[in-house]
Amino acid sequence: MRTLASVEDVRKVISGWRLVGERIAFVPTMGDLHPGHLQLVRHALTRAPHVVASIFVNPTQFGPGEDFDAYPRTLESDQEKLQREGAQLLFAPAVETLYPGGTGDTTHVGVPQVSRGLCDDFRPGHFAGVATVVARLFNLVQPDIAVFGEKDYQQLAVIRRMVRDLCWPIEIDGVPTVREADGLAMSSRNRYLSADERKLAPVLYQTLCEVVEQVRAQQQSCRTLERQAMEKLEQAGFSPEYVSIRHAQTLQPVETGEMPARVLAAVRLGKARLIDNVSL
Ligand code: PAF
Repeated sequence: MRTLASVEDVRKVISGWRLVGERIAFVPTMGDLHPGHLQLVRHALTRAPHVVASIFVNPTQFGPGEDFDAYPRTLESDQEKLQREGAQLLFAPAVETLYPGGTGDTTHVGVPQVSRGLCDDFRPGHFAGVATVVARLFNLVQPDIAVFGEKDYQQLAVIRRMVRDLCWPIEIDGVPTVREADGLAMSSRNRYLSADERKLAPVLYQTLCEVVEQVRAQQQSCRTLERQAMEKLEQAGFSPEYVSIRHAQTLQPVETGEMPARVLAAVRLGKARLIDNVSL
């Protein structure tokens, strides 16, 4: 596997593949790769002969006071993992490469509707940062397929909407969340949990699974179930930001019995912010 940092080098390799008509699958990441990311690479390999991964901790998707500086940077071990999985190319650019005009007053991509509410209420501007960097990466890599985890479900909806609105010929594949044995969704941010917090963390997933059962039982309204789940999480020791039952594609709130739906949640636990979601 080659690791490249410059736009020119990446374009050269990719245009060579394109010239002979070979398809490219792309896995954008921020590094600190765990089995969830590697599952994305494995999925990408089933979709195209060439798999490009990127590692870039994107400053524009972090708000003031968030963990941009503390975010783990583990390039060497990430390279080994990607090589072992069979990725052919790693694009690991510097900030100046993806943001040649700086990160402040720069061209950005704003995605309507699905960007609003849920995580955006607690991380304003986050999805504009994600859409902007993914748009730049798509423009450089020009993949046929791009692969994202369903764990960041709102992010996946934002990227699908951006690709549809901008008429890009890119298929977006969502891959189911990879979980620890006790149900906790794998995430680079799990490393911020203390030992006691780590023991408590799977209660988030358990609570979402209970909400799914309760929605299916149709005895209470979705809004009541959301409120009860928030109370349960708070009593357990989390600081919940939201628990919300939404339409799986539009992310609009749904009433009891409307399908397809998704139960999404975000909580704070110590220094970590955890997000998770389950399908109804
Ligand atoms: O999910 C992530 O790791 C990031 O949000 C992404 C999609 C790589 C954009 O920086």
